[in-house]
Amino acid sequence: MSERIYIFDTTLRDGEQSPGASMNTAEKLRIALQLEKLGVDVLEAGFPAASDGDFESVSKIAEKLKNTEVAALARTSRSDIDRAWEALKGAAKPRIHTFIATSDIHMKYKLNMSRDEVIRKAVEAVRYARSYTDNVEFSAEDGSRSDRDYLCKVFEAVIEAGAKTVNLPDTVGYAIPSEFGNLVKYVINHTPNISKAILSVHCHNDLGLATANTIEAISAGARQAEVTINGIGERAGNASLEELVMTLHTRPNYLLFSSNIKTEFIYPTSRLVSMITGITVQPNKAIVGANAFLHEAGIHQDGMLKNPMTYEIMKPETIGLSKSRLVLGKHSGRHALRTQLKELGYDLSDDELKIIFSKFKELADKKKNVVDEDLEVLVTEGILRTTDTFRLEYLHVTSGTTVLPMASVKLSINGRSVKGADYGNGPIDSAFKTIAALTGTNSELLRFSVSAITGGTDAQGEVTVRLEENGLIALGRGADPDIITASAKAYINGLNRLEYLKNHPTRTPEAL
Ligand code: KIV
Ligand code: ZN
Repeated sequence: MSERIYIFDTTLRDGEQSPGASMNTAEKLRIALQLEKLGVDVLEAGFPAASDGDFESVSKIAEKLKNTEVAALARTSRSDIDRAWEALKGAAKPRIHTFIATSDIHMKYKLNMSRDEVIRKAVEAVRYARSYTDNVEFSAEDGSRSDRDYLCKVFEAVIEAGAKTVNLPDTVGYAIPSEFGNLVKYVINHTPNISKAILSVHCHNDLGLATANTIEAISAGARQAEVTINGIGERAGNASLEELVMTLHTRPNYLLFSSNIKTEFIYPTSRLVSMITGITVQPNKAIVGANAFLHEAGIHQDGMLKNPMTYEIMKPETIGLSKSRLVLGKHSGRHALRTQLKELGYDLSDDELKIIFSKFKELADKKKNVVDEDLEVLVTEGILRTTDTFRLEYLHVTSGTTVLPMASVKLSINGRSVKGADYGNGPIDSAFKTIAALTGTNSELLRFSVSAITGGTDAQGEVTVRLEENGLIALGRGADPDIITASAKAYINGLNRLEYLKNHPTRTPEAL
């Protein structure tokens, strides 16, 4: 009989701390609904005291989710906890997640507090949060580098104060699996009231060990795992949900644990997060990378043909990656489109389908086969970005060996049309210069990359840009069969994200 592991997803909070990965409320809500479908037990929706944008997203998500617990992060101050509760109060299943650092290095240099003061703060915070809800989680930030006995004392005190979950983070991704497993055992054996709470772990991936550490911790007795889709998160990211879940799913003979995750939604969720955040998944990424189920070597291919079990430990269908891809074309109808979008995890309303269907017809006129990746782009650009400040109405570029590259661009800015033209060093440079002038922005292009999202010469080009303006960083992504247009779309997407950041400034919390 396998034991249940609770999956706490923090894609929308720690995941959003990935550089450039800021999301607006509509985008977060879309991901939250998908995470509920995926079956996560707890969804950390944000850090309401950090910014008004976070507050708004947490409240919107709290109102919408019915089955999944919605958590909000708060430091130990009353004002943070008040703000978290204010955002959470409409939730069917709210959870306040409060934290303070417990390692000597953080207490001395960051908090400037003694061990006793930190325990007192932690206990007061948990008691205060309990005045709002029974469902309180406490995290000992930098737990893996904290003094073990002190950590156990902190956990004992916060459990006594009413914490229902105590979380042990490897905040800086420093732990080694066997060491982290031993720490979990130590905590279980030396925290007298630990059975009154669920022990959770939260591992960062600085040494590439986040998932391994999480699995070791579960084997040692932890019962909640804090993870993100595609492993995104602060610096090198967090333990990845798909790696943890599929490890438990694939090795039930060795790891006697299971989760409530509906694995067939893993791939669509991974794609959705990647499309929305603009953070592409590396091709060799376990489970969801483009190469994860490809077999290149002749010997492997031969083995696969004889029996897939020779080289395939998981079936692509298990994560929702269907082998038999339905290819749509210009004769495909609305029903086929709806069915395929549903397969990909997009359950669109009739109005949304109408928008996508007309965009699909436009694309199918330019491109013979419209595949899953193309549909994802249509949904992302056609629906998820409707609240954008800047939208591209048209782009015309001239370039070649004998003309000066020039772009004319028409944009809609908050619904008002503006047009302009400029020369540049090439078609992309001229398009970007014109767009920057029209939008009155002054961002620096830090990175620019182009790839083809599918094979074939009529494949859509996908462009990713990284922009910086006055210290704010944003990623932008765009796709189109024409790579100049894809570049302009990516640039405009990046500018929209910067605009969102300008209007929703993040108060950098001094204790983070
Ligand atoms: O990494 C960390 O310690 C955190 C805590 C706030 C849980 O993200
Ligand atoms: Zn973290």
